[in-house]
Amino acid sequence: MTEATPVITIDGPSGSGKGTVSARVAKTLGWHVLDSGALYRLAAYAARKSGIDFKNQPQLSEIARNLRVRFEQGRIFLEDEDVSLSIRTEQAGNDASRVAAMPEVRAALLDWQREAAVAPGLIADGRDMGTTVFPRAPLKVFLTASAEERAKRRYKQLKEKGIKSKISDLAVEIRERDERDRSRAASPLVPAGDAMVIDSTAFSIEQVVDQILQAAQERGLAKP
Ligand code: C5P
Repeated sequence: MTEATPVITIDGPSGSGKGTVSARVAKTLGWHVLDSGALYRLAAYAARKSGIDFKNQPQLSEIARNLRVRFEQGRIFLEDEDVSLSIRTEQAGNDASRVAAMPEVRAALLDWQREAAVAPGLIADGRDMGTTVFPRAPLKVFLTASAEERAKRRYKQLKEKGIKSKISDLAVEIRERDERDRSRAASPLVPAGDAMVIDSTAFSIEQVVDQILQAAQERGLAKP
């Protein structure tokens, strides 16, 4: 990241609305988006495909370091396979969270994430964007919502993508994943000390986006 490239970090647990909010804020500001969760999902997907044991940290980090990924017109390709949908399943999310607990895997993906900070600016969506990847970001947001609300949102999202699920199963999986993300030693899911915490349970996407844009204006990152 150069001094001149502004970054807004948006961290939070799964289903908190980070992805949608990040995309909308980025569109309004004309900035890029880093979907860091996709990188962990890709690493886990590639590892599963190669039959690598999920406890084998050296091999997993090797896979993460050598991922051959292309982002093309909203689709994601791993080698030549279009994995846009397959990395979005709950299984892929859980696999990602297991792989993401390993420090060597996180280290393997670090430079790649930092290289995404290019002009005119970056919205970095993830779990540790404000704490580890971009600790000097001028605006850090930590977005949360109740587990029930997040399960409902996830259900809707998956349905829109044509993926079948059950809200009760999703709620259990979301709690398990949160617990693993919060309790891991390497870059756990916690708000940065200087993060603006937004509980979106009772807010619409638009209201959350407006709060972030307002904060960006106050910091001179966006025009009023
Ligand atoms: O955001 P998404 O649900 O796609 O992330 C999948 C998993 O990847 C998360 O549950 C988390 O374990 C991991 N992740 C992470 N750090 C990030 C982004 C995602 O550990 N910056």
